[in-house]
Amino acid sequence: MAKRKPLIAGNWKMYKTGPQAAELASGLKSLVSDMMGVDIMVAPPFTGLGIVAEILKGSIIHLGGQDLFWEVEGAYTGEISAPMLKASGCTYVIIGHSERRQYFGETNATVNRKIRAALLEGLIPVVCIGESEAERESNQTFSVVQKQLEEGLAGLTSDEVKKLTIAYEPVWAIGTGKTATTDQAQEVHEFIRARMDTAYGSSVANVARILYGGSVKPENTSDLMAMADIDGALVGGASLDVNSFSAIVSLSIDAATDKA
Ligand code: PGA
Repeated sequence: MAKRKPLIAGNWKMYKTGPQAAELASGLKSLVSDMMGVDIMVAPPFTGLGIVAEILKGSIIHLGGQDLFWEVEGAYTGEISAPMLKASGCTYVIIGHSERRQYFGETNATVNRKIRAALLEGLIPVVCIGESEAERESNQTFSVVQKQLEEGLAGLTSDEVKKLTIAYEPVWAIGTGKTATTDQAQEVHEFIRARMDTAYGSSVANVARILYGGSVKPENTSDLMAMADIDGALVGGASLDVNSFSAIVSLSIDAATDKA
């Protein structure tokens, strides 16, 4: 099995004003300063990026955007482009989060355009996919995930896909306290990797980082991270608390060491 360095990413969603984001970032910076062996990323709201970038300078924590628009600049009121994220200190950007799909009309086609824009700027896209509760109950999990992958990544080359991080987030597990069981998560992660193998070859599939997201907390981190095809976590609620997030980071390092 290829060794993949896990990524623990905190999605702060629409929480934290600038000063609050600064406080959270400072706390985190000191707590995780000696935690090596995983990559760490936080994605504050856009209004917090500047101040958080300033605080995280010289730390091991990477900065990410929660979304972007695919044009570089123009008359697109309210939107933020890849070069703007890059200039704000971001190296990652979350794309196609289920909340964006659910409330803001994102589709696999817009996800595709956003991935391309991010890659052009050298940002690492964290591409979110996952089924709803109704889709899982009607046994559509695999077909939904397959379609999201096929359409979201349509036309990308193997070299481009190699640069992506995928986040499998079952919609029914996001913010609900209901986590997928380790077997449920592993089975979908394995499926995603197999699809990538078929579409882009093993040199891509073996290195592709596939995160799990949906009610990740310190209590379930070790079990999830022990699974063969789970390479990290996209954490929402628990990333807003320094102690919970740093515990998730630390437990993931242990799990990665055990897996190696
Ligand atoms: P949650 O959110 O950890 O609060 O369930 C995960 C996400 O939306 O990325």
